[in-house]
Amino acid sequence: MADAEFVVVRDLRKVFNGHTAVDGVSFTIERGEIFGLLGPNGAGKTTTIRMMSTTLPISAGDVTVAGHSVRRKPAAVRRHIGVCPQELALYLELTALDNLVFFGRMRGLSRREAAAQAMENLELVGLTDRARQPVAKFSGGMKRRVNLAIALMNRPELLFLDEPTVGVDPQSRNHIFDTIEGLRDGGMTVLYTTHYMEEADRLCRRIAIMDGGRVIALDTPHNLKARYGDPERVTLEDVFLRLTGRRLRDAG
Ligand SMILES: Nc1ncnc2c1ncn2[C@@H]1O[C@H](COP(=O)(O)OP(=O)(O)O)[C@@H](O)[C@H]1O
Ligand SMILES: [Mg+2]
Repeated sequence: MADAEFVVVRDLRKVFNGHTAVDGVSFTIERGEIFGLLGPNGAGKTTTIRMMSTTLPISAGDVTVAGHSVRRKPAAVRRHIGVCPQELALYLELTALDNLVFFGRMRGLSRREAAAQAMENLELVGLTDRARQPVAKFSGGMKRRVNLAIALMNRPELLFLDEPTVGVDPQSRNHIFDTIEGLRDGGMTVLYTTHYMEEADRLCRRIAIMDGGRVIALDTPHNLKARYGDPERVTLEDVFLRLTGRRLRDAG
């Protein structure tokens, strides 16, 4: 398996009760890159991530992660991935540290390993001084950072981040960006979904723009913008508008 094909998504489809939510999506993710899925609400980003991460049955097509098929070897795929879901998945009454230790234990770490990694991860997301406070007391942005720290337990090679900055204050947002860039620099591969074009532009090496369950463009941010003029002046919002006739911020 070449690094250029660390993740391969081939003609992926999802039909919910006759409604096609993901309609033949294909792309590859190179090892070590941050790959973006950018699109308005309802585009099919979460459905794509849930199929890729083995949590939602695939209607047609397949995904391979490090050469393992999601359809045929989901347990092997799960060993390579961490998932930070769009909806927070935390125990509010537990401390940040205990949340991380719990999820680390679920993924097979010993108590000692889980505690050590939990403290490292809390440092990564800038919450060391809050480790022993119940998550219920945290701001929305701090809860999102705990959600991210949980996804990093057991050091996944491939991290799925589904809209990690929604409802987040600017300080937490910057922490999240710095954390993701640091992980990428350490060799982690990241699939990042967002409906914020500036985030995709800043973080992602390549972006698939999704709309109506399909990938309507896929390239580097620079190349996408250069299709329509001076890439220093064109924005990804302009690209979306040119491709669909709608504004990304209004679409959905
Ligand atoms: N569990 C489900 N049952 C039925 N329809 C769903 C379900 N999940 C998502 N959908 C529909 O699939 C489409 C894509 O949704 P989603 O993947 O959540 O988009 P995004 O994450 O890009 O906002 C939407 O029309 C949504 O209503
Ligand atoms: Mg979503």
